[in-house]
Amino acid sequence: MRNKLNMAGGHPIPRERNMPKATGSKTTLSLIKADVGSIAGHQVVHPQVMDAARANLKEAKSLGVIEDFYVTSAGDDMELIMTHRKGEDNRQVHELAWLTFEKATKVAKDLHLYGAGQDLLADAFSGNVRGMGPGSAEIEMVERPSEPVAIFMMDKTEPGAFNLPIFRMFGDPFNSAGLVIDTAMHMGFRFEVWDIKEHRRIFLNCPEEMYDLLMFLGAKGRYVIKRVYARSDKVPQDEPVACVSTDKLSQIAGKYVGKDDPVALVRAQSGLPGMGEILEAWSWPFLVSGWNRGSHNGPVMVVGEKNNRTSRFDGPPRCFGLGFQVTNAHLILPPVDLFDDPAFEPARKQAAEIADYMRRHGPFEPHRLPMDEMEYTTMPELMEKHKGKWESVK
Ligand code: F6R
Ligand code: MG
Ligand code: MG
Repeated sequence: MRNKLNMAGGHPIPRERNMPKATGSKTTLSLIKADVGSIAGHQVVHPQVMDAARANLKEAKSLGVIEDFYVTSAGDDMELIMTHRKGEDNRQVHELAWLTFEKATKVAKDLHLYGAGQDLLADAFSGNVRGMGPGSAEIEMVERPSEPVAIFMMDKTEPGAFNLPIFRMFGDPFNSAGLVIDTAMHMGFRFEVWDIKEHRRIFLNCPEEMYDLLMFLGAKGRYVIKRVYARSDKVPQDEPVACVSTDKLSQIAGKYVGKDDPVALVRAQSGLPGMGEILEAWSWPFLVSGWNRGSHNGPVMVVGEKNNRTSRFDGPPRCFGLGFQVTNAHLILPPVDLFDDPAFEPARKQAAEIADYMRRHGPFEPHRLPMDEMEYTTMPELMEKHKGKWESVK
């Protein structure tokens, strides 16, 4: 059984006999993702599109560009999980992802899939996928003796959707018992927060600056957690223990091109939140922006592989999670399907109930987003259509 295809990524795992060799250099975990087209509307990535991506990454692995990879999806987004030794923002690795998306797009176009190539906003690769449409989250690390990592992939929402769960993992003692019980966590964590409108960032220490931090994080459409750092000596202090993709498609393209559908990498255990604490942060369905037409508030529904796609009203927004061990820059397979557990049924049920409640508001706020946060810019057209009909009132 252990050498069978894994459940979502689909490549064989003869790891026991073929353990990756340690080289001593740092490991980089890169997740680069894009929506390059899907079946039956904005729903799921087609298996042939995934196969095209796997074939390309397999070749890159054989050429030594990357050490290992795992291709999966979250709803209509294809997710390239890669390990290598080239560091963050590496040109070769980003170009590989871009070319992989281009090859996958070709298959999507041949099949006339919906929105084929939609996230590839540039005509050609130029140095880095950032600002070109795909989203990316990367961590360069000195691997600990054992390196468990959770990877979260969301569909139909925006980067700020990670603010609440990541804060709860690393900042909230009612979520993460380790913040109280494990003295290695008592120093707390350092949050790197990006202002995605002004393109600037700030570092805030938790717990002492927690209230300031929450003031920013609550405004999740503008301030987003980019990285988290440990403040103890369990992990080098300049090395992220969590990283979120913060690419804002609508700002890149200047018009609506779909939601960002963010991803996050979170390292676990040994002085960091344990995997159970990382998952605890998802135990109730908080509200996020996105859902249908990127213009509605709705609950996040955490899902296992089986329900890893949106349905009702193009949602509700989903989060799919996989747990890996990173070993000598390789991914030990199969990953764990993190939300495939009855313990999350109440959260899913509650999300469905909240979805019902929110839907009954129809086109009214706060279900529909405020005008300046909607991904559709309907108002200018309406204003043009009705211009001249407005009368002044005293
Ligand atoms: C949201 C999303 C969908 C589409 C909607 C309309 O991120 O992908 O809700 O916005 O299905 O799609 P089009 O305009 O392509 O028909
Ligand atoms: Mg999409
Ligand atoms: Mg999507």
